[in-house]
Amino acid sequence: TRTIKLAVIPGDGIGPEVIAEANRVLDAVLAGGDVVLDRTEFSLGAERYLATGETLPEAEQAAIAEHDAILFGAIGGVPGDPRLRDANIERGLLLKLRFDFEHYANLRPCTLFPGVTSTLRDPGHVDFLVVREGTEGPYAGNGGTLRGGTPHEVATEVSVNTAFGVERVVRYAFETAAARPRQKLTWVHKTNVLVHAGAIWQRVVQAVAAEYPQIEVDYMHVDAATIFMVQDPSRFDVIVTDNLFGDILTDLAGAIGGGIGLAASGNINPDGTFPSMFEPVHGSAPDIAGQQKADPTAAILSAAIMLDHLGLGAEASRIRDAVRADLATRGSAPRATAQVGDAILAELSRS
Ligand code: NAD
Ligand code: IPM
Ligand code: MN
Repeated sequence: TRTIKLAVIPGDGIGPEVIAEANRVLDAVLAGGDVVLDRTEFSLGAERYLATGETLPEAEQAAIAEHDAILFGAIGGVPGDPRLRDANIERGLLLKLRFDFEHYANLRPCTLFPGVTSTLRDPGHVDFLVVREGTEGPYAGNGGTLRGGTPHEVATEVSVNTAFGVERVVRYAFETAAARPRQKLTWVHKTNVLVHAGAIWQRVVQAVAAEYPQIEVDYMHVDAATIFMVQDPSRFDVIVTDNLFGDILTDLAGAIGGGIGLAASGNINPDGTFPSMFEPVHGSAPDIAGQQKADPTAAILSAAIMLDHLGLGAEASRIRDAVRADLATRGSAPRATAQVGDAILAELSRS
């Protein structure tokens, strides 16, 4: 028997609702096998902060680090809630985990499954993977304020880009592209304006590309990338990009792939020094929280990415096939969160 220590952080809003379904699916797909999940739940997020003033106590982070993987729902309150302004739990909790656990490869696949309606009228073949840099860029937190609150206030958010950080994610993206049939990599930046960071990306991509002569490499400025993503997403296979560009492009990709409720992700520490973390791309959706309106599919597909990462590819494929089967017959009538979970479980039991 193999025991996998899983840290579960359901979080806020719809986080616990979608994670409950992901957990049911995980239990079903592993039932009767020789893999056992040993779960520890960590109650972290906006609610915890409002109740206790704590964001991510050191001891809890250390305990999370002892796990093999992290399943994360979503955190955060209503955007702009003044009670949460000072805490910034997105930075103090979610980004802290991604940064401290060196989740430098943030995988965000975009697949338009058969039967799913895209926001695009004529989407064509949509099956690409965004590899978003996860530990630096404009997210580095290198900024500050001068003369705060005065008419002369100055605010800076400095993008931090290291050759080491860029190279490790670019290398990961080439490896990933090399393992896919199309052998194509698009790197996205804004080298015409962000010339300093752009120069590192350019140099690194060029150097690594030389080691992968079989891969077709393509560059686009991020603004143009949004055009192509909407007009002809089929041109993309693997995209590698900076942390902020990747954030924005993957919400767009979510819409193209049939909605943010289907968009899954994995924050990967490829070195295995720290647990990787798996989470839907969406947030806590306070507008629909507590009403069983959230689609848990993104969380369920994130659990599948987790199983892949843990070397349980067959189980991951079973989940994806069950989701695919459900999506093919789902229709457009709204279903409760748990009903979607039920339907995917039913598909699983048939497989
Ligand atoms: P959001 O992703 O929570 O919601 C955007 C829209 O998508 C909303 O209309 C919501 O109802 C809808 N939506 C999201 N997930 C859905 C699902 N599974 N099924 C159906 N509809 C879904 O983004 P937001 O409103 O900008 O942010 C809300 C809070 O979440 C903020 O506090 C934000 O900081 C936080 N956030 C957290 C994460 C995370 O934990 N990884 C990610 C993004 C945003
Ligand atoms: C995401 C979210 C986060 C990000 C926020 C909540 C910090 O938008 O996971 O896409 O910007 O990375
Ligand atoms: Mn985002």
